[in-house]
Amino acid sequence: MKKSGLIIAALGLAFTAAPALASLELATKSACTACHAVDKKLVGPSYKDVAKKYAGNAKAEAMLIEKVKKGGVGTWGQIPMPPNPNVKDPDIATLVKWVLATK
Ligand code: HEC
Repeated sequence: MKKSGLIIAALGLAFTAAPALASLELATKSACTACHAVDKKLVGPSYKDVAKKYAGNAKAEAMLIEKVKKGGVGTWGQIPMPPNPNVKDPDIATLVKWVLATK
């Protein structure tokens, strides 16, 4: 019995860790990681800083999806984020949700 409990616990862990890993992979594949890291500023803000800035802001998700799609400048400094036309809309939505959850 103890053993099966452990296996269930391990499975639970795998399931909670998997979405974060999948999204990091998506971010890498979508070239976001050329300019962004989860917990340090590169060319663009760290994803944790983005999550902090918009915590509790219900409109942030839709706004950020648009911004990642079309690019933009002025929120974090004078370096612009170029548009990301090669990243599919559902992937952008997944990425933005993931970014907002990196706390
Ligand atoms: C060429 C570099 C570059 C790439 C590639 C890039 N970004 Fe950015 N990103 C930036 C910069 C610079 C900013 C800050 C823009 C500003 O100050 O308004 C930014 C801002 C952001 C923000 C916060 C926007 C805001 O208004 O607060 C999010 C979210 C984001 N990027 C997500 C992504 C995702 C997801 C991808 C991949 C699809 C991506 N970025 C690819 C440079 C980049």
